[in-house]
Amino acid sequence: MNDLMSLGLHRIWKDILVAKAHPSISRPFAHLDVAGGTGDVAFRVARAGGPQTRVTVADINADMLRVGAERAKKRRLDDRVTFVEANAEALPFSDRQFDAYTIAFGIRNVPRIEKALSEAYRVLKRGGHFLCLEFSRVDLLVLDYAYDVYSFAAIPAMGKVVAGDGAPYRYLVESIRKFPSADLFADMIAAAGFARVDFIRLGGGVVAIHSGWKL
Ligand SMILES: C[S@@+](CC[C@H](N)C(=O)[O-])C[C@H]1O[C@@H](n2cnc3c(N)ncnc32)[C@H](O)[C@@H]1O
Repeated sequence: MNDLMSLGLHRIWKDILVAKAHPSISRPFAHLDVAGGTGDVAFRVARAGGPQTRVTVADINADMLRVGAERAKKRRLDDRVTFVEANAEALPFSDRQFDAYTIAFGIRNVPRIEKALSEAYRVLKRGGHFLCLEFSRVDLLVLDYAYDVYSFAAIPAMGKVVAGDGAPYRYLVESIRKFPSADLFADMIAAAGFARVDFIRLGGGVVAIHSGWKL
């Protein structure tokens, strides 16, 4: 469904996210991917980094983590990617443990976004990088109309045919509309303590990658 809904673009967006995280190829690098699901982002980080890059996937859903752990084994990445059941709002990690934190298409589902951001800040080392890939608002009026039609009519219909149920995809579309605008979300990241906060829009604003540093 991710491929179908995004016309395959989610792969490119995740590649850009990981390029920005820039895992070290020569030094130890501790990466945390929150709401990491079945490991899509984590595997990219492990491959982009060197042998001393370690990735922890944290997700609230044990079934997703189980699938992720199997995928890691198949890819021979299970020695560098570990899966932990955890809530983004209360991470079971000590302070200043990670060099980078990513969250892709996850923060929108967290009820208390401020809590998740303050946990991200807490677990990052000084100099650590926070990166978030999330759906955003389309910034062209014509594209906005087309995106509305696509979102409210086509996506739930595709969900019904491919996944057997349109309702979760209606929820998905509605949750995207409720999520703060990129400017507002950037303010929330800064309010959590991050410095040099900025974002880039991709796909005409369909998604944005937000970045902030713990300095
Ligand atoms: C749309 S999936 C994204 C998965 C993956 N990041 C990707 O881009 O392929 C959203 C994920 O967020 C997880 N999630 C939702 N609420 C969460 C929370 N409070 N803490 C941690 N994970 C959460 C879900 O279990 C799910 O795996």
